[in-house]
Amino acid sequence: MQIPLDRDKPVPLARQIQAHLERLITARLLAPGVKLPATRELAQSLGVNRATVALAYEELVAAGWARAHVGQGTFVAGPPAGAAAPAAPPAARPLNWSALLSRSARIVESDGERARAAAPGAVRDGVISFAGGMPDSGLFPTDAFRRALNEVVREEGESLLQYYPVGGYPPLRRYLATYLLRFGLEARAEDILIVNGSQQGFDLIARTLLDPGDAVAIEQPTYPRAMQVFRSFGASLLAVDRDAAGPRVDAFERLLERQVPKFFYCQPCAHNPTGLTIRRDVAAGLLAAAARHQVPVVEDGFDGSLYYGARPPAPLKALDRDGVVVYIGTFSKVLFPGLRLGWLVAPPPLAERLRAAKQLADLHTSALIQAAVHRFCERRLLDRHVARIAAEYRRRRDTLVAALKRRMPEDVTWTEPEGGFSLLVTLPAGLDAGALLPRALERGVAYTPGAAFWVDDSGERTLRLSFSSVPGGKIDEGVRRLGEVVRAARRRPAHPVERVAAPTV
Ligand SMILES: Cc1ncc(COP(=O)(O)O)c(C=O)c1O
Repeated sequence: MQIPLDRDKPVPLARQIQAHLERLITARLLAPGVKLPATRELAQSLGVNRATVALAYEELVAAGWARAHVGQGTFVAGPPAGAAAPAAPPAARPLNWSALLSRSARIVESDGERARAAAPGAVRDGVISFAGGMPDSGLFPTDAFRRALNEVVREEGESLLQYYPVGGYPPLRRYLATYLLRFGLEARAEDILIVNGSQQGFDLIARTLLDPGDAVAIEQPTYPRAMQVFRSFGASLLAVDRDAAGPRVDAFERLLERQVPKFFYCQPCAHNPTGLTIRRDVAAGLLAAAARHQVPVVEDGFDGSLYYGARPPAPLKALDRDGVVVYIGTFSKVLFPGLRLGWLVAPPPLAERLRAAKQLADLHTSALIQAAVHRFCERRLLDRHVARIAAEYRRRRDTLVAALKRRMPEDVTWTEPEGGFSLLVTLPAGLDAGALLPRALERGVAYTPGAAFWVDDSGERTLRLSFSSVPGGKIDEGVRRLGEVVRAARRRPAHPVERVAAPTV
């Protein structure tokens, strides 16, 4: 640790060290619990007597800034109540960072501010939360994954911990090529680009295809974080409404007759927020229109295997005879989102550009994580895990749908999810799901207001219920509480200023 000491000052060195540490603690540069350097070590690096440092530490302990543990050392406790530590001198003229922000950063900032201003805050204990659109971490195969990780570090650590080729770990790419064949998607290992989750896929596609002022056609409702990425590159979003069969082909056609979007983004299977799956003829209609108008389709196919019907539908990429589809896949839903592992399959001319963009962005995705996931998959542990979680999520979906039927007023409707983690509820006319959320939280139930899933912030009558991370035994009670909130609101509608929207995954 470096502490500037002024030997010409009339202030004793021990006092200077103490004051410096107090400032670091106040500024949380030294957080509570952090161990201070050993007195011998610090004395040596500062060129002072060890007793000087020991004295500074004793003073810190006496005043409550630190705690000494015999035989272990001295640990930061935090600023004592009412302490005023010497502040660092203010900069003469602080740099105006906001004025320096790029256009993209300003868009991201205003999106973030909106979400923060509207966020419901921490959900208190006892609240049954249907808000998290994520897998249930209680079902994670953590031990089996740890073993796979240990093995690959032991066997291939030297190459996996070195810089790695941008395309990805070849055995994982070969595995994925075979995995995708199950869904009818034909891609050679070398056509697959490994990325840090779908989210990086959106980013790479956007930076490769979008210029400020471009338009992107996008199904509505849809995944908010995809919208945010496209907007951050300066694109305007053109909504294509969905119905139960998928994005409306007539609306898509009409849009393409009038405008020239750079691409069309959609989630054909296990759609977030509705859980719906595209009908085969709708898929064919969209692809034909896209090919006729020469518009690429970005397919977010993130969890085609979490499908609760008999047989998952074919991805659009499997039906794509004209080479218009860019496919995005991820391990986030079927395994762990914390891996940050996904993949892109793009037609060759674009694939090359995406690979270059990936290299510029971060050189490559962690080869260690790729190898561990490959080891896990190769042993068929992923298949076993997916079979287990799909059965559990299907049960939770059934429980949720049954609870809605039993507990909701008649004029409330919802989508019947065939896959994924969530469904979308539509409230009776006159109700606003964002405005209702504070009351729901008070009553002990949380959800995601639907407006965030709409391009134009409409959809205020809708809300998303995620069933994936709510234990089966709590779903009915959660819906009972929500039913009460809706009934009460019909008698006394919430004032729109109370409206809150949650940040979404
Ligand atoms: C539709 C959709 N696409 C992409 C993602 C992000 O996935 P990833 O973790 O692979 O970035 C999510 C996450 O919830 C999602 O719902």
